[in-house]
Amino acid sequence: MADRLSPRGKVLGITAQVPLARALALVVELGIADRISQAPTTAAELAGELGQHPDALYRLLRMLAAEHIFKEDDEGRFDHTASSRVLTTDAEDSVAPLLSLAWQDIVWATYLEMPHTIATGEPAFDKAHGQAFFDYLSAHPEANALFDAAMALISGPEDAAVAQAFDYGQFTKIVDVGGGQGGLLAAILTHHPDSKGVLFDQPQVLAEPRYLTGPLMDRCELIAGDFFHSLPAGADVYVLKRIIHDWDDAAAIQILRNCAAAMGSNGRVLIAETVMKPGNEPDPSKAQDVGMMLLTRGRERTADEYRQLLDVAGLQLIEIHPAAVTVSLLEAGAKIAP
Ligand SMILES: C[S@@+](CC[C@H](N)C(=O)[O-])C[C@H]1O[C@@H](n2cnc3c(N)ncnc32)[C@H](O)[C@@H]1O
Repeated sequence: MADRLSPRGKVLGITAQVPLARALALVVELGIADRISQAPTTAAELAGELGQHPDALYRLLRMLAAEHIFKEDDEGRFDHTASSRVLTTDAEDSVAPLLSLAWQDIVWATYLEMPHTIATGEPAFDKAHGQAFFDYLSAHPEANALFDAAMALISGPEDAAVAQAFDYGQFTKIVDVGGGQGGLLAAILTHHPDSKGVLFDQPQVLAEPRYLTGPLMDRCELIAGDFFHSLPAGADVYVLKRIIHDWDDAAAIQILRNCAAAMGSNGRVLIAETVMKPGNEPDPSKAQDVGMMLLTRGRERTADEYRQLLDVAGLQLIEIHPAAVTVSLLEAGAKIAP
């Protein structure tokens, strides 16, 4: 479809997405999708209930309906389409947490500082918010909660796929490095009843590992620490999901070196990340890569870039296992002497 547009149409079409993107966040913020789930409603009724301007709200919803997000009937009532249902908070595939206006404000303020990143290579986030991304989250619990909710939305569906993409059962002890709330470790331990796990993360994150409950905790240790310093020694597998892409090469190599130093002689490092297609090949992770560059010092990488990173860290890429739509599992082990 996009290929049939004129060059001018294609470029202007991208710019025209801005009001749509902002409108989606506002619709979630106002709870419009949840309200429409109760019954199809006119913009005037919605505006009355929500204290908004009727004509302005109508025009916002009309714009979205033109993209098949909500649909308007002959009486002016807006109802759901498949695409508007994901804006409800209780949909199984809800995107609502990612679109919360407060979170989007933090991200959009960062986008405004894109020229800073392109001129200096430094994260726009730091200029917009006066602090590095993870420092800001530590200092702002509300923002941290929004980030956690957005991460859970992306990360949650990946956990089961990553837990099944590799035979963890052949190994005894698995460390989830920067494992957050323990979703991936819980999925791995559930699939592999003989395995034991370590959830390794910063102390404030380990206070309440939401997913490691009940009997799973009998096979699991929580260890707080700094992955730039050292990791629990002697385990068989060190899993890093959505960790390496948060960091520049020097920092990523330090984390991987610490995995190599900590693991047993036949150990494995498993990196769960998007593997970016090289060159001109279309790939949504190229936009995600720019997002990482603006927010953190991170980057998405191609298979060759991961191979090189592992090599410098004293590791060797063994195999890339497809896992979820969003991530693959890069399996690495100690370098074998030639
Ligand atoms: C993007 S989240 C990924 C969480 C989880 N692996 C997932 O896929 O949902 C990054 C995680 O790294 C942790 N982290 C950041 N810096 C760390 C450090 N220096 N040492 C240990 N963990 C750290 C954060 O607390 C957070 O849980």
